[in-house]
Amino acid sequence: MRSLIDIRELDTKEIEQLLNTALDIIDNPKKYSKVCEGKKLATLFFEPSTRTRLSFEAAMMELGGNVLGFSEAKSSSASKGESVADTAKVVSCYADIIAMRHPKEGAPLVASLNASIPVINAGDGGHNHPTQTLADLLTIYREKGRLDNLTIGFCGDLKFGRTVHSLIAAMARYSGIKFVLISPDELKLPDYTKKDVLDKNNIPYEETADLEAAMPELDILYMTRVQQERFFNEEDYLRLRDKYILNVEKLENAKDDLAILHPLPRVNEISVGVDDDKRACYFKQVLNGKYMRMALILKLLEVEV
Ligand code: NCD
Repeated sequence: MRSLIDIRELDTKEIEQLLNTALDIIDNPKKYSKVCEGKKLATLFFEPSTRTRLSFEAAMMELGGNVLGFSEAKSSSASKGESVADTAKVVSCYADIIAMRHPKEGAPLVASLNASIPVINAGDGGHNHPTQTLADLLTIYREKGRLDNLTIGFCGDLKFGRTVHSLIAAMARYSGIKFVLISPDELKLPDYTKKDVLDKNNIPYEETADLEAAMPELDILYMTRVQQERFFNEEDYLRLRDKYILNVEKLENAKDDLAILHPLPRVNEISVGVDDDKRACYFKQVLNGKYMRMALILKLLEVEV
């Protein structure tokens, strides 16, 4: 039995298989519409979410399965002091697979060590978010036709942005990848990611605070929200939140085939005027997330189609 806590647990072949399954689901949705009949997905969300939770639930429903769960810590027994380990043991009696989001880094890992069913990390604090990465990978693949030989700019909150950490860890395995890390000094990529992922794999990267200067060389621009809930003081958040606002003018020097991604929710960092630009991919990314979660559920439940 396997869980998915960190994107690096999937090897390159497995990622390719998940992409292929998702592409097949897109082409043949009927073939998959009953394959999880009688199976249950539990969504245990201790932190707010719109996309991730609903997309897991929609994914399971489109596979013919059922869903149960809670969407905030205060409606679970965590509010009475139950540990994550105990919650995981209990839910193992009711469901076949768990998707868990938690504000504490490592909580889904603890759950996976105590559950008797697969656990999917649906975001743990400022750490990782592997299923958002699966959505990002399918989006990049469908937009660019490849996952290698790309210059990828990450812009905004690279310190607390868990989607950034997971996508960098996933892309580091492909050849010809270069990262441009665009952030204010205070929100730079954590050293552990630089050391364990970038340096270890000899990945070229540059750090800059200047989005417009970086723009012309980018194939992918991954915008992020400044993660207000992870700041220790409001003053810092207010000072940094509007540092980068992507608008139509800033795209003037961008490549014609740039793909603009954002895990959403968006606050101010992409002006709505950009939504009509053909390079804006963030709403397609949402849909891709559902297909990849369907593919992942099938893999972890070992359902043969
Ligand atoms: C992201 C997250 O939760 O980390 N959202 C998502 O799952 N699509 C990004 C964010 O909250 O900024």
